[in-house]
Amino acid sequence: MTGIPTRRIAVYPGSFDPFHNGHLDIVQRCLPIFDEVVVAVLFNEEKRPLFSVDERVAMVRHLLAESFPGAPCRVESFSGLLVDFMARLGARTVVRGLRAVSDFEFEFQMALMNRRLNPNVETVFMMPKEDFSYLSSRLVKEVYGLGGDLTGLVPPSVLALLAERLHPEGHPENRPGHNA
Ligand code: PNS
Repeated sequence: MTGIPTRRIAVYPGSFDPFHNGHLDIVQRCLPIFDEVVVAVLFNEEKRPLFSVDERVAMVRHLLAESFPGAPCRVESFSGLLVDFMARLGARTVVRGLRAVSDFEFEFQMALMNRRLNPNVETVFMMPKEDFSYLSSRLVKEVYGLGGDLTGLVPPSVLALLAERLHPEGHPENRPGHNA
C-alpha cells in the first residue's frame, strides 16, 4: 500500500463466535470516527467454531442492519493474513476491543506483528462499555450451554441462534427423526 488513503476504513477483525453486545458496542464507537467500518470475520473452521463462517457473517450482517440502519458498515469474511486482507480493501486501521489488562499481552503482540508485516497498518484499541468488560464469546457459549441467563449481554437474534445450536431439544425440527 502506498500513499495515504482518502477514506478512513476501520477493519474490526475477530472470530465473533458468536457476536455479542460488547462487539456491537465497539462498532458503534467506531462509526463516528471512521468513514467505513468493516467487520472482518475470520475463516477458522479448523478451530471448530460453534457457528460456521457463513453463519457468523449472516449473524453480524443482520445485527448491523438492525442496529445501525444505513450506517457505513459491512461484514466480510477473510482467511490468511489480516494485513493482506486490509491491503486488498485499502484499509490501514485495525480496531480491537480491549477489555482488561489480561487482553493486553496478546493484543500487543498482534499489533506489533501486524505493523511489522505492513508498516502502514496501525492498531487502535477501544474500551467497550463497562457493562461488557468481562464479556467474551467463550463465556457466552459456556454460560448459555449450562443454562445461564444472558439477557442484556447478547442480542435476541444471537440468543435464538444459540438456543437452536446448544439446546436443540427445545427445537422439535432438530430432533432426530423429525422430517417436517
Ligand atoms: O476474536 P479473536 O479470535 O481474538 O481474533 C483474532 C484475529 C482474527 C484478530 C487474529 O487471529 C487474526 O488476525 N488472524 C488472521 C491471521 C493473521 O493475520 N495472523 C497474524 C496476526 S499478528
